[in-house]
Amino acid sequence: MQWQCAERAGQLQSSVIREILKVTVRPEVISFAGGLPSPEAFPVERMRSAFDAVLSRQGKVALQYGPSDGYAPLRAWIADSLSSDGARILPEQVLMTSGSQQALDLLGKVLIDEGSRVLVETPSYLGALQAFSLYRPEFMSVPTDEHGLVPEAIAPLRQGARLLYALPNFQNPTGRTLPIERRAALVETCARLGLPLVEDDPYGALSYRGEPLPKMLTMNPSGVIYMGSFSKVLTPGIRLGYVVAPLQLVGKLEQAKQAADLHTAQLTQMVVHEVVKDGFLDEHMPTIRRLYANQCEAMLAALAEHFPAGTSWTRPEGGMFIWVTLSKHIDSMKLLEEAIAQNVAFVPGAPFYANAVEHNTLRLSFVTVPPERIREGIAKLGKLIASKL
Ligand SMILES: Cc1ncc(COP(=O)(O)O)c(C=O)c1O
Repeated sequence: MQWQCAERAGQLQSSVIREILKVTVRPEVISFAGGLPSPEAFPVERMRSAFDAVLSRQGKVALQYGPSDGYAPLRAWIADSLSSDGARILPEQVLMTSGSQQALDLLGKVLIDEGSRVLVETPSYLGALQAFSLYRPEFMSVPTDEHGLVPEAIAPLRQGARLLYALPNFQNPTGRTLPIERRAALVETCARLGLPLVEDDPYGALSYRGEPLPKMLTMNPSGVIYMGSFSKVLTPGIRLGYVVAPLQLVGKLEQAKQAADLHTAQLTQMVVHEVVKDGFLDEHMPTIRRLYANQCEAMLAALAEHFPAGTSWTRPEGGMFIWVTLSKHIDSMKLLEEAIAQNVAFVPGAPFYANAVEHNTLRLSFVTVPPERIREGIAKLGKLIASKL
């Protein structure tokens, strides 16, 4: 049979990370490649008792179809937890999704026409590039520096743009955080240009040093579309995320959601509400932050000790990733083959670029590897990189 796929299917590519992960499941491989949270941080017992409680108290509701916009008490909890600094977020603005990855797809469906511009950071989250690319936009890469997006670079790229996709907290892949002045400038610039600003924030709660910076959503709730996720604060296995959008837009997103999968599982939404409603995250988050901060420290120390001169890296203040820039002539995609032969893995930087690729970059995740294995893996990698100089 000769299958005739739709033209848009030509845009579909397997994520490089998912391909690498297939190799790195071997126990002897020290993998800095995954973007997975640490299973050490999963609140297994708390989830078990919440499943028990929901099923015994409201089993018949939990196992039924539910509303497309999501479980009302959880939407209200999310709206409440996002309302701060004088900004009031309404529960009606919150649409529950199957992971925040689905919110990216819904935004693509609702906002992007073929050939319309989408502004992304340089580099950006590869899962967003993958989700948006199905709608065949023209990606415009907004310049960044060590503090993240450069707000002044937006206006010249704005012509015909449908959205700017930004990751202000502990960005995937660089680990960078956008300073408060830049957040304000970005919000002001997008409002002035009439450009929807998408704030993707799955890592904001993973701040190692005190409170995270204010969300851009609270700076301008009528111009910002905010995306959040329970994947990095509870567990990714439940596939629960959400998008918060101005009322004029959220109805369209809900219709797109209906067409895609009717609604997100009622059972998991009720369980998550049962877990979070009495402040569980306030007790739980410090444990995750301590765990990740400790492993981040171990990796930064190992990088300083083992990586050769001419190599630089970011110093994240939260989240899960460090971004490394090698000497110009080293191609990290080729380096990966040799690293895997020595049982160390990372993600090459190339797939995170929508346009001009910087081949001498790579992403390291430290959260699923214990400190002694981090030191061992970074020492091996440092030696390999030094051999290329
Ligand atoms: C920046 C960013 N956005 C969205 C997602 C999707 O997360 P989920 O679908 O698990 O909520 C991820 C996952 O790693 C991510 O890094």
